[in-house]
Amino acid sequence: MTRIQLDEGALRQWGQVLGAVAARDSVFVALFGALGSGKTTLVQAACEGAGVSMNVTSPTYTLVHWYCGKHGPIAHADLYRINSTADLFLLDWDELESGRATVFVEWADRASDELPPDRWELWFEVVLGGEARVVEAKSLGTAPPIPALEAYARTRRSS
Ligand SMILES: Nc1ncnc2c1ncn2[C@@H]1O[C@H](COP(=O)(O)OP(=O)(O)OP(=O)(O)O)[C@@H](O)[C@H]1O
Ligand SMILES: [Mg+2]
Repeated sequence: MTRIQLDEGALRQWGQVLGAVAARDSVFVALFGALGSGKTTLVQAACEGAGVSMNVTSPTYTLVHWYCGKHGPIAHADLYRINSTADLFLLDWDELESGRATVFVEWADRASDELPPDRWELWFEVVLGGEARVVEAKSLGTAPPIPALEAYARTRRSS
């Protein structure tokens, strides 16, 4: 697990590299963090890195958006507006966790134990009065290693 402080430019640079790796292995990426903590920003950069040419917008109201990446389909979901895990079928959750697509899920805590065991977890925290974000990244189960954050750090907090 690494825990690193990033400004927006660094977050986007790392996100592009992360997206390329995630798309190659159809990784399920769970994103956690408060409103405005940088989850969508990360997904936009990751989709760019995965070869998505479309504009990536927040699926807060539509729950899930699908894109075509270089290596196959990419889903971007946002669970902020679901009431309980019973609503997950609205997003075709079975397809999202099947491993057939690369998946990014904002507000992943709302899926609680419906999250697939093999996944990346990215935790975002707002710091410096909004000037930067601290990101924690961990790979669980058989998910591949997450591209190292350290090279992008503006100020390293701990690792
Ligand atoms: N590392 C960063 N440092 C400073 N500002 C950032 C950083 N990353 C993103 N931001 C800014 O934070 C704002 C909110 O980002 P974003 O929409 O990605 O948050 P979010 O976590 O998806 O929020 P929500 O929970 O509402 O979906 C944007 O204006 C973005 O420019
Ligand atoms: Mg968002």
